[in-house]
Amino acid sequence: MAGRVTGKVALITGAASGLGAETARVLAREGAAVLLSDRDPAGEAVALAIAAAGGRAAFLVHDVTSVADWEAAVARAVADFGKLDVLVNNAGIGSSSFDLMTGSLDDWRTMLAVNLDGVFLGMRHAGPAIAAAGGGAVINLSSILGKVGLPGAAHYCASKGGVLMLTKAAALEWAPLGIRVNSVHPGFIDTPMVSNAIHASENSNEMREMLIMAHPVARFGVPREIADAVLFLASDESSFMTGAELVVDGGYTAR
Ligand SMILES: NC(=O)c1ccc[n+]([C@@H]2O[C@H](COP(=O)([O-])OP(=O)(O)OC[C@H]3O[C@@H](n4cnc5c(N)ncnc54)[C@H](O)[C@@H]3O)[C@@H](O)[C@H]2O)c1
Repeated sequence: MAGRVTGKVALITGAASGLGAETARVLAREGAAVLLSDRDPAGEAVALAIAAAGGRAAFLVHDVTSVADWEAAVARAVADFGKLDVLVNNAGIGSSSFDLMTGSLDDWRTMLAVNLDGVFLGMRHAGPAIAAAGGGAVINLSSILGKVGLPGAAHYCASKGGVLMLTKAAALEWAPLGIRVNSVHPGFIDTPMVSNAIHASENSNEMREMLIMAHPVARFGVPREIADAVLFLASDESSFMTGAELVVDGGYTAR
């Protein structure tokens, strides 16, 4: 039986962990050939598990801030699977508290380098391959924090707000090429990024409870709930969507 993305080739960054790993599993289950990439070599085990379950998957070590790594990643997708249709710009970093009165320029730049430069480089290097395939889809992981602010996270909010507008400009520029570009805005999802940030906070139990209660559904999301949104945007089911913000946040930003 054909899957929802059968015949498509997808490159997923940050696929060693959390949302990227789950997205790779879901896209592969629905028929896509998936190239997982991450700066963490642990992504190899995720790709091997997908292949063992009958999927088409490969992995390469890839730092999204490196132009040379992007060139290698796109070339690898085309070499292994013949083309590239879908790019999921998922790799990203969070952080514990960043104080605007004392925060360092280095910390600011590190955040922007991964979360915003990395997304630009992904589109810059994968875009020509997707155009050569006759069009496709780019899905950029922004956040609810690309739409609303959070004290102590100005650098993260700035990076994710940048992803939101980069997505819209790219959608306009690439509509004539048949490349759809959309952003996904998760609420707090139970992944290592969130659990590490909570553990690093002073009152982790209170922090966890406070974050959960900021979601009207009174729980964190699970990775599958974001992977399903990415699957929809990667598939032809969303063929009339481009430049859109797909918010998947348990109601966080509805208040
Ligand atoms: N978990 C959430 O609540 C949440 C909410 C909103 C948005 N997001 C976004 O979703 C994406 C995935 O987050 P997650 O929760 O799965 O985090 P995670 O920390 O579990 O996974 C992120 C992955 O990105 C990789 N990575 C980090 N820097 C990299 C780099 N320079 N090059 C290549 N890979 C790199 C890490 O090695 C890791 O495997 C991020 O962009 C994050 O900002 C997450």
